[in-house]
Amino acid sequence: MASLTIRKLDDAVKTYLRLRSAKNRRSVEEEVRVILRELIEGREEPLTPFAVPPATSSAPALQRTGAVPEASVTLIIGGGIAAYKSLDLIRRLKERRVEVRCVLTKAAQQFVTPLAVSALSHERVYTDLFDPQSEFDAGHIRLARDCDLVVVAPATADLMAKMANGHADDLASAVLLATNRKVLLAPAMNPLMWTNAATRRNVAQLQRDGVVLIGPNSGEMAEAGEAGTGRMSEAIEIAAAAERLLRPPVPKPLAGKRVLITAGPTHEPIDPVRYIANRSSGKQGFAIAAAAQAAGAEVILVSGPVDLGDPQGVTVKHVESARQMLEQVQAALPADIAIFAAAVADWRVANEGEQKLKKTAAGMPPLQLIENPDILATISKLTDKRPPLVIGFAAETEHLIDNAKSKLARKGCDWIVANDVSPATGVMGGDRNTVHLISRKNGGKDGEIAVDSWPVMTKEQVAIELVAHVARSVTDKSLEPAS
Ligand code: C5P
Repeated sequence: MASLTIRKLDDAVKTYLRLRSAKNRRSVEEEVRVILRELIEGREEPLTPFAVPPATSSAPALQRTGAVPEASVTLIIGGGIAAYKSLDLIRRLKERRVEVRCVLTKAAQQFVTPLAVSALSHERVYTDLFDPQSEFDAGHIRLARDCDLVVVAPATADLMAKMANGHADDLASAVLLATNRKVLLAPAMNPLMWTNAATRRNVAQLQRDGVVLIGPNSGEMAEAGEAGTGRMSEAIEIAAAAERLLRPPVPKPLAGKRVLITAGPTHEPIDPVRYIANRSSGKQGFAIAAAAQAAGAEVILVSGPVDLGDPQGVTVKHVESARQMLEQVQAALPADIAIFAAAVADWRVANEGEQKLKKTAAGMPPLQLIENPDILATISKLTDKRPPLVIGFAAETEHLIDNAKSKLARKGCDWIVANDVSPATGVMGGDRNTVHLISRKNGGKDGEIAVDSWPVMTKEQVAIELVAHVARSVTDKSLEPAS
């Protein structure tokens, strides 16, 4: 087996290997082994990190590095000693599944080399506004727009001045002028430059223009004996700020709340093979469960037999009959909010056959029906474990609002979501719903009822809207839904 002397390799290859092995925290020898293994296994890891993408397509030929990135950043590296931190910033962004394409100003190249930046970003590096390779198809426009965010780190006093005044005499300033993306600046400069009136004016102008700043921090400067405000934020702080802009935190208004939901039909057995059922698909209840979970709630979904997959992150209890549903609902208490969207069968067969009922000469067997427990009414009338907000559904085929209003009173719940399920509406089993939210005004104190009619929406939209109303009511500590 031939042995390989790293020392004897081309300089460019050696540099690449050193950078790549340092980045992956492996020895150069181990890195070579990994590259050979990847080659044999046919992975997409680029062998040369500074390969120029073919200049023929209008979209940037991005080199993929295995995991599919979810966001992309154009990183402009300005000319300052803090530029070395931008190498770490590239790594930190890539860790967060962010693809990074870098622009280096002329001054930046005094501090970091395009080769190092290219090796870390796995992309070609852009340095020149008049580069025929990238500019024949307006490369600076693509760098400005084919990304989700533009980050400038370090943002020098000069680059910020150019930006504030709309200059475009090099690639970095042209990208900043041409972008319609959010821009994040990480300023880095001497404290006197930072406090200079001109920089103050430029910063104020940039903030008015909607540019976001991270830092600068205070501390010692690179210049011996100098200290003050002007140090560029650490790479990890800039990456976190970029992530907040790329993936803003989703509000979780129901965090810490336990929401109990029923959904679907119930099956009431006649004998071991037959049952009474209805046409409920469970879609509305499942959509509410998913929306409540997305709003941060702990969700327990008690579902009758449906053809739907369990929503992610939701505890699902599968049941068949109304009595089993009630049992699971009671076991799930206490809850902060209970939403009863199930189409529970009102009756069950009293004389359920132990064996399959047979046709007999005596004619049809008599089916005697008895009433099922009313889960909504039972839970609404609890004295000890009653959830503070109980919501029922009213599926009606006529006199929708009037029936829903009387249901609110009869069942003792706080809100009723009324929907017309007459066959012409296609609501039962369909994807859309028209609902009216019926509630006691003022939390029921003056006996008045409020009706809030919503436009036709998908069941998912109804769910999101209902959960938003629930979240508002929980925050307001009032049971009256906001309209
Ligand atoms: O009485 P009706 O079926 O029209 O009421 C509908 C509301 O009552 C829905 O919220 C439904 O989930 C609930 N319900 C129940 N238990 C029953 C019947 C209905 O929880 N047995």
